[in-house]
Amino acid sequence: MAKPRVYVTREIPSRGLDIIKERFDAEIWPEYAPPPKEQIVRKATEVDALVTILSDQIDSAVFSAGTKLKIVSQFAVGYNNIDVQEATKKGIYVTNTPGVLTETTADFAWALLMAVARRVVEADKYVRMGKWKVGWHPTMLQGRDVYGSTLGVVGLGRIGEAIARRAKGFQMKLLYSDVSRRKDLEDKLGIEYVDLDTLLQKADFVTVHVPLLKDTFHLIDEGKLKQMKKTSILINNARGPVIDEKALFTALKEGWIAGAGLDVFEEEPTPQQNPLLTLENVVVAPHISSSSHQTRSRMAAMVAENLVAFFEGRIPPNLVNKDVKVK
Ligand code: GLV
Repeated sequence: MAKPRVYVTREIPSRGLDIIKERFDAEIWPEYAPPPKEQIVRKATEVDALVTILSDQIDSAVFSAGTKLKIVSQFAVGYNNIDVQEATKKGIYVTNTPGVLTETTADFAWALLMAVARRVVEADKYVRMGKWKVGWHPTMLQGRDVYGSTLGVVGLGRIGEAIARRAKGFQMKLLYSDVSRRKDLEDKLGIEYVDLDTLLQKADFVTVHVPLLKDTFHLIDEGKLKQMKKTSILINNARGPVIDEKALFTALKEGWIAGAGLDVFEEEPTPQQNPLLTLENVVVAPHISSSSHQTRSRMAAMVAENLVAFFEGRIPPNLVNKDVKVK
């Protein structure tokens, strides 16, 4: 029997790619830059499966073209780029890679938090650019203490929980807000449930870990930013559109809050002219929170395993649309 055909929209780490090449009739987009949308639509007409990443728009155009398409195996935990409802309607399975990236993503939220609080990037530039001319000085590059401060976690899912766990070592007071209360975690983590407004008013560090949904679009807007402490720092490595970037720029520029660490943007790649990039009190990264060698390898293996399971007639371990009925 012919092997199922799979189109892979980006070269993923070999731990998964090797399995895909061995088990399937695989074609891989060879470039670092993304394939044009028309390429994905064209390939969708030919293949049984797609392997996608979070910047591929997998919408009704792809699903309508994919008359043979049976499964989309996404290399990411988030899947806001995929019209899952449409996939389900068409009997197409959607899978993702949860769990394996939790700790790595939590590490990076902390890297941003520490970098903004202690002005690590500014300090690095200060030394390299020859501004360090006077030796040690009592007021040089003063930052904000992390230990003993209050951390507010917006969204206590897997990643939010991993971040809160790390905060214990810094003897932080912990607050969280969420659409559903996680009583099971409150004692375990020593974390207190509050509404979002209270969290914003009380926290010294606010870190956002909600998925991008209709209800979370611009969850942190001008009104919310105005509630935060002037000394507070906002971290986002979830999805860019959860924060209103224009309002965030004003907040940082006018001193409503003290700083921000951003791994995600409303538009990615963020344009070079994004005014946020002109601010010293912002640390930015190009959406790399899960990018460790180990984790990206594990994600690739999971992408392959989801495909293998499906084509062996098993339920893929990380099925997103559990109500899908096979075509
Ligand atoms: C990364 O942002 C992911 O969703 O895996």
